[in-house]
Amino acid sequence: MVDPSDSLGAEERARAALDPSVYDYYAGGSGNETTLAANVSAWDRIAVRPRVLRDVAAVTTRTTVLGTPVNTPICVAPTAFQALAHPEAETATARAARETGSLLVLSTRTSRPVEEVAAALGPTPWWFQVYVMRKRALTRELVERAVAGGARALALTADTPYLPRGRRDRNPSLKTEPEAEQAPDLTFDDIGWLREISGLPVVVKGVLRGDDATACAAAGAAAVWVSNHGGRQLDGAVATADALPEVAEAAAAAGLETYVDGGIRRGVDVLRALALGARAAFIGRPAVWGLAAGGADGVRTELLALVGDLESAMGLAGARSIPEITSDLVWHPPAAGIR
Ligand SMILES: Cc1cc2nc3c(=O)[nH]c(=O)nc-3n(C[C@H](O)[C@H](O)[C@H](O)COP(=O)(O)O)c2cc1C
Repeated sequence: MVDPSDSLGAEERARAALDPSVYDYYAGGSGNETTLAANVSAWDRIAVRPRVLRDVAAVTTRTTVLGTPVNTPICVAPTAFQALAHPEAETATARAARETGSLLVLSTRTSRPVEEVAAALGPTPWWFQVYVMRKRALTRELVERAVAGGARALALTADTPYLPRGRRDRNPSLKTEPEAEQAPDLTFDDIGWLREISGLPVVVKGVLRGDDATACAAAGAAAVWVSNHGGRQLDGAVATADALPEVAEAAAAAGLETYVDGGIRRGVDVLRALALGARAAFIGRPAVWGLAAGGADGVRTELLALVGDLESAMGLAGARSIPEITSDLVWHPPAAGIR
């Protein structure tokens, strides 16, 4: 079982391995980083109500995400430019996802070609994250390559019409070509466009409100993903743990699954997320710290540590399987702003 300080250990190891400007790019958020901090602290406000005497001799984390069987509900969020963290970049992260039976979401801003990452994943399911770019033909071309490479779904990132001012990531090597910048004029109609050009289900990433989840469903989305981009877009945005119940309720009413990311650092955070209505919880920075600290082995170590920590939390809470993580397992105080 895992010491909760382990993920901090990985961050410290990564920090030692990285150039300070690269570390800042990964660690940082926007503004004064209120949302970045709130993402982590909000999970700790959710008290678990453990069940006792439930025979927890065998605990399993197996589940499905968008109908696909996975070993764990802990999945890997898209993070850009992984070559800055490790020379094997996304290919190493892909190998770790494959070896763990997790689900990987590959960023539009991948350092390695989509085809190479798809080959490293083999039969393991993966999704492609889409930034719709100003030049939509570029997006179409990338999506077609992802489809050819076997992506099972597209994750449309909806919270990044442009980058905010003052992000702690002004690394000059990260400048994108003007025509590859995100399109600021995205609407719900783009969900239909992506479905049409790919034939794949579209998951909308960056949803923080119930009414937006309802609108995504009406526009043909397959699922919604509660995210504030790890506190890197609108500083002041609600912590994902606080937004999750409202979004999950609206999504469930429309028959959609809900996923969440942001500040998930321990197994008990995943338990809380699932109890609040998420089908899966995604990690951003913890995977990057693993990659920087040790390539594919490092990512695998991080993932396995979190899965072990989730198993431990489940057993201690009296939940033997994912379906037993129900809403009565947590007590969620009403959200009262960002704390
Ligand atoms: C360095 C970095 C790069 C990211 N790049 C992308 C990206 O290319 N596309 C995207 O949709 N989200 C991106 N994200 C957001 C993550 O997918 C995810 O929402 C966030 O990291 C989750 O929070 P966590 O880091 O606290 O786990 C990035 C996040 C980080 C930290």
